[in-house]
Amino acid sequence: MKTDHTTRVYDSILDALPNESNPSPLVRLQRLSPSPTFPLWAKLEWLNPFGSVKDRAAAELIADLERQGKLGADQPNRGIVEPTSGNTGLSLAAIAAVKGYSMRAIVPQKVPDEKKALLRLAGAEVDVVTDALCPLPGTEDGSIGLARSYSRAQPDRYAMPNQYENPANVRAHERTTGPEIWKQTGGKVTHVFTSLGTAGTVTGLARFLKAQNPNIKIITVQPTEGHDVPGLRNLSQIGVSKLYDPALIDEILEIPYELAYQRAAELFRREGLRAGPSSGLIFEGARRVAEREQVGFGVMIFCDDVFKYMSTMVKHLPELATDEGGAS
Ligand SMILES: Cc1ncc(COP(=O)(O)O)c(C=O)c1O
Repeated sequence: MKTDHTTRVYDSILDALPNESNPSPLVRLQRLSPSPTFPLWAKLEWLNPFGSVKDRAAAELIADLERQGKLGADQPNRGIVEPTSGNTGLSLAAIAAVKGYSMRAIVPQKVPDEKKALLRLAGAEVDVVTDALCPLPGTEDGSIGLARSYSRAQPDRYAMPNQYENPANVRAHERTTGPEIWKQTGGKVTHVFTSLGTAGTVTGLARFLKAQNPNIKIITVQPTEGHDVPGLRNLSQIGVSKLYDPALIDEILEIPYELAYQRAAELFRREGLRAGPSSGLIFEGARRVAEREQVGFGVMIFCDDVFKYMSTMVKHLPELATDEGGAS
């Protein structure tokens, strides 16, 4: 049987990666939208084959290394090394597994244990280093510095995609996320809500969508300082990314990071959406704008579901871990 998106038959799991003819689902909120004339739609990136929005960047980053001749079936001893707070590493590891490449992930120690275990489960070698939750540049022994020294010391063994600087990360969203949103909404989208990690998602989709309609508003959320939302940065931390382009962003909302956890729980309890904390934060930003503007058509990028973040969820919502009152 051949790959066929209409019957959802896939010759390889790589054929299930998202694009315009196989988009991630776009689902309308039923109960939590504050205005009936400003519907909010969630783009469910956790339904991508390796579980997050990062499948898109990882596929393009690996394709880019292959195009440059830095990875390929003819180089069986070469693999990938990448600093990651988890999701990019997981998507890279899974694609590397399919293609027979090795994968080494350099991970800050604050990354939730579930994610570190998942990386190992996917076949990655994992180096845990002392670093901020999202990798910071500058220190040689931080995750970015360590990945760089692996690729410099053993260039015949390691290729480093570098998601923070590589334009392939942006291109992934310019080629897939943006066109999917445009097609799925029939061009009706007025506002897109995103978060910031590497800024690949926001820069790529904004480039595509603003070229279709310059009036589309691109709104990003940032968690307050001192946050512990995995995968996200606030503006004081975004300097690490060469992909952040403020000219494409119409508004930045700063949101108390605790709300990421509360809103994620509400999305599951009231909408049946198993959203992770970064999606919770994005939803809070979208909710505020819909309440303020009353009329519009909003698309929220829900990057990941909640399963990899349960230890952090329980920390913020300790009632999740009590057995009292339950049936015996
Ligand atoms: C859960 C989660 N949300 C949001 C993002 C941000 O995406 P981007 O790196 O494209 O800005 C990431 C990125 O790592 C993530 O893991």
